[in-house]
Formats: sequence, C-alpha cells, structure tokens
Amino acid sequence: MIYKNMKLRSLLFILLISSIHLLIAQEQLITNAYNRETTSLNGYWNYIVDPYENGFYNYRYEPFENQKNPGSGAFFTNSKAKTKSDLIEYDFDKMDRMLVPSDWNTQKENLFYYEGTVWFKKSFNYSKSKNNNRVFVYFEASNYETDVYLNGEKLGKHIGGFTPFNFEITDKLENKGNFLIVKVDNKRKKEAVPTLNTDWWNYGGITRDVKLIETSETFVEDYFIQLDPHNKNHIMGKLRLNGTNKKQKEVTISIPELKIEKSFYTDEKGTITIDIISSNIQYWSLENPFLYDVFIKTDEDQIVDQIGFRSIKTKGAQVLLNEQPIFLKGISIHEESPIHDGRGHSLEDAKQLLTWAQELGCNYVRLAHYPHNEHMVRLADKLGILVWEENPVYWTISWENKQTYKNAKHQLSEVIDRDKNRASVIIWSMANETPTSEARNSFLTDLATYTKEKDPTRLISAALEQSNYQGNPLVRTISDPFAEVVDILSFNQYIGWYDGGIEKCSTISWNIGYNKPVIISEFGAGAKYGLHGNKDTRWNEEYQEYLYQETLKMIDQIDQLSGISPWILVDFRSPRRVLPEIQDGWNRKGLISEKGDKKKAFFVLKNYYEHKTSPDKE
Ligand code: GCU
Repeated sequence: MIYKNMKLRSLLFILLISSIHLLIAQEQLITNAYNRETTSLNGYWNYIVDPYENGFYNYRYEPFENQKNPGSGAFFTNSKAKTKSDLIEYDFDKMDRMLVPSDWNTQKENLFYYEGTVWFKKSFNYSKSKNNNRVFVYFEASNYETDVYLNGEKLGKHIGGFTPFNFEITDKLENKGNFLIVKVDNKRKKEAVPTLNTDWWNYGGITRDVKLIETSETFVEDYFIQLDPHNKNHIMGKLRLNGTNKKQKEVTISIPELKIEKSFYTDEKGTITIDIISSNIQYWSLENPFLYDVFIKTDEDQIVDQIGFRSIKTKGAQVLLNEQPIFLKGISIHEESPIHDGRGHSLEDAKQLLTWAQELGCNYVRLAHYPHNEHMVRLADKLGILVWEENPVYWTISWENKQTYKNAKHQLSEVIDRDKNRASVIIWSMANETPTSEARNSFLTDLATYTKEKDPTRLISAALEQSNYQGNPLVRTISDPFAEVVDILSFNQYIGWYDGGIEKCSTISWNIGYNKPVIISEFGAGAKYGLHGNKDTRWNEEYQEYLYQETLKMIDQIDQLSGISPWILVDFRSPRRVLPEIQDGWNRKGLISEKGDKKKAFFVLKNYYEHKTSPDKE
C-alpha cells in the first residue's frame, strides 16, 4: 500500500513539475502592446493580505489549484456564501482597495515592510467587438511571483518583477461579471533573480499597467525590425503571426516617409523575414532622434510602431553610433517615482527623470538594476537618449541552480522582446557586481551568447568590479574572465567612498589591458541634501561635490574611457540604509534628493558634460 502511495505521489509530483513547468512556460509576449488598442484594468482593486497563503494552500499545504475540486477556500474561486450555513472565510468585495498600478508598500502604511502574498481582485464586463476576435490580459509588470486566474480558472504564472507577460482569455471570458484574481508574492528567495539581498526596496504589487488586448483571430504577434548593422541601406527583421490563418498570408510593411510599401508571404510557421532596401534613411541620432511610422498590415490586423534606424557598434575602444564615435554622458537611475513615493510606472515619472538627466547634460542613461517601465525607453527614443538595460542578476545569485538560470534567461528574453525595436536601447547588461567563479562565468557567458543570438544588433556588457593590478593597490585593472565576452567593458568603482578617502583618487592609475570601450557604470558618494560643511566630512554636500571633482579627473586618465553613469540621479529607498538623520531608509548617493532638490555635485557633473566632447574617429 505505502509503496503504491509513493509511486502515486512521485507520479503526481512529475505531473505537478510538468504542469508547473507548463504554467511557468508563458505564452509568447505580444510585441508592441504599447500601441495596440487596449482596455485598461487600472484603478482600484480589492485586496487580501495573505501571509500564510491560506487562499492558495489547504491545511495540508497542498495547492488548491492542483485539486480537481479546489473548493470555496481557494481565493481564486472568489466564493460567496449563498446560504446562511455556507462557510466562506473571505470576501474580496468587502475588503479594502488599493490602486493598480502601484506598490502596496507606499500605499498602505501597515504594508510598508510587508514581504509575502497579497491577492488582488478586479471585476469587469467585456464584450468583444467581433465574435471571432481573441482577447488577452497583459501585465506590464508585477513583483515578483504572480499567479493569475480568471473566473476561477488558472491562466498561468509569471516569475520576475520587471518584465511584461500576457495570457489569452478568449475562451474564459464572459460578457458580464468577469473576476480577475491575481496572487502576488514578493518574498525574496536565495534561488530567485534577484536573490535575497539588494540595495533597493522590494516593492510588492501589480506595479505597472494591466490591460485587455483584443486582436483579430490571426494577428501580428511578434516582430523585430532594425537596421542591418552591416549595411546601412538595409532594414531587416523577422515577424510572426499567431492564429489559424497564419500560413501563406500576405503581410504588408509600409513606411510612408520612406515611400516604402512591401508585401511578404508567411511560411508554414506564419513567419516572414523582412528585407527592405532604402538609400534615403534618416538615421536616428542624438541630435535628430527621427522615428519612422512603420505600418504592419494583414487582411485581418494592422498595427503601427515608431521605429528609429541607427547602428551601434564598437571599434577598438570607441563606441560608434551611426559609425560616429560618441562619449556616453550618463547617469544611473532607479525606477522610483520622482512625483509620488514608491515604484515609478507612469509617463509622467519617466518625463521627470529623463528631464533631470537632460538638465545634467546626459545623452545616455543606465536603467538599474532591472528593466524599467516601457515609458522610459519609448520616451528615450523620442528625446534622443541612449539606454543601458539590465537583467536583475545582482550580487550573489545561485549560479549552479538550473532553475535560476532559466529564470534569468526568461527575464532577459522578455525585456528583449519588449524593447528590441527601440533605437534608444543600445546595451544589454547581463549582471551587476557578481563574484567571479566557474559557475558564474559560464552562467553569464551563456546569457550573453543567448542575447547575441536573439539580438545581434546591440552591445553586451555587465557592471564588473575593478581590482589591484598585480597586487599594487595604486594601479587598478579589470581581471574578470567575463571581460573577454562583453563588447563594452564596464565596472563600478567607489574610490573615495567605500575604498579610502577622496585624496586617494589622485594616487590611482589604471592598467586595463583590453582594446575595448570602457564605461564606469557606477561611482559616487552619499550626501544629505542641505547638509553643508567641509569637504572631508562624509554626508556633506561638499564631500560629494569634491568626490565628483576628483573622480572625474582620475578616470579621465583611462585611455579607453567611452562613458560614465555615476551612481545615481535621485536618492532612493533601501532597507540597507538605516543611519538616523542622514539615511533613514534612503540611499543618499543621489545628485538630487527624493524631494527634487539638486545637490552641489549635480552641477559638477553638469559642468563636466558641458565640456566633454565626443572623441575623434580612430
Ligand atoms: C553598488 C550597487 C548599487 C548600490 C551602490 C551603493 O555598487 O551596484 O546597487 O546601491 O553600490 O552602495 O550605493
């Protein structure tokens, strides 16, 4: 009997893994949901805080969703007592509400430090405009582990707090009385990406827009349209239809401003290879961030996208934009709203952050340490600002854990799928400050190989760490095997803050043995806005100002220097920063305080950029 049970249990376990595997394996992300006609589900949602996950597991800690009849105890059934004897111990509609998109930490005081599960419920009616149309629910992001149910049925699961995902709901949708139940769990885990410790606030919730996308039965699901890096008159790419009529289907790509209208026919898989020649392309550049309206049309579907055509390459130690060397005048940014407290998500948030970056004189931003919302990159496209995007492989990830690798790869694939048509995005960063080891080196190298295959048009980097050259602390170098793999050699350095005092800067020289462009992806010092005094006393604005002056002089010695993104544009929340009256839960390395006040160092960097010219062609 016991043996029979054990056999049954392992069978169930395999079924479970394969079903979880199935559940985790998401549907393909719909490209350019940004421009599609959608129905927003933003607004107030009812919520239930469920630290014991009582709405997900029965008292035997078995997931309700794996049971044939999960029973009313499962929160995703949104059950209601029908008779006075019915035992239902929750009721979404009588619960408090919170705004979506946003984080629960800054919306509800009692959830400020909360890490765990919160259930959200949204009721809505929806009638399709055409009978055989399809409908998808699209989440721009939700942190961290998200289980989604519609009308009591599981749609799927998403892991990762900073990338979009969608599920088809066509067959589950009612005209009236739909209830979308979302379980969001932001518990930190060793094997997760990111892992247990980070230097940013672990905001939980449905942190970006939620919308319904209605498409024709066969629609344009995915496309990648970019300038061929090897031929500046060649627009190339791929496109895939999704639906029953995807074979041998005519797809017309038109770019009116280039007088281009070209038809292609899909193959068995519903895909086409895009091949367009034009010698009149206005290239997207910092001075002229020209975006073409690109129309994609079939007999059932039509979408438009704003795409800029530019090439980005390295040549020796130079970064070339449209074959011209540039210096990346950057700043690092965390995705916190400069307008309201908490996680940023809106166009207004993006506008404020990029306006400040432009006031600094930036032509480039490092979006740290995870993919930011799509408004940031769409606006960067319009403003002519170059972008570094990063996968949240941060500090001590579980390098040997296969699931951790799959998770990191999946998050990377999602941000690439979302932003691969954005001219502003030039660098995919694989990681930040990760300790070298065999397992780590192959983990990052595999991610880099995957990224190059998926997107051969952009550059690969990672924020590495510098070290002493041949044991000499006054000569610094990069001795990291992953430096061989990257296109751009980037590293963080904190000489004058974590590494000695500011006077050390003038004693340091560099010996970086790579003929590759070098970007200093981080440097900086903490300063409390309004605190003034002598420049040798930490936390004064004068200390931060002096550190910027000395650091800029120090790094200007680096021959291969092609850019910088100092840490950081704005003070940001971090549970690791607890110094009273100075930090109080904020990392104070911003050049601007969380209230929008510019510190003295802001003007040191602004002045440096005003005088920094682009290098001459080698
Ligand atoms: C690190 C890290 C950042 C962190 C910063 C700091 O280098 O990459 O995430 O916030 O240093 O210590 O302020």
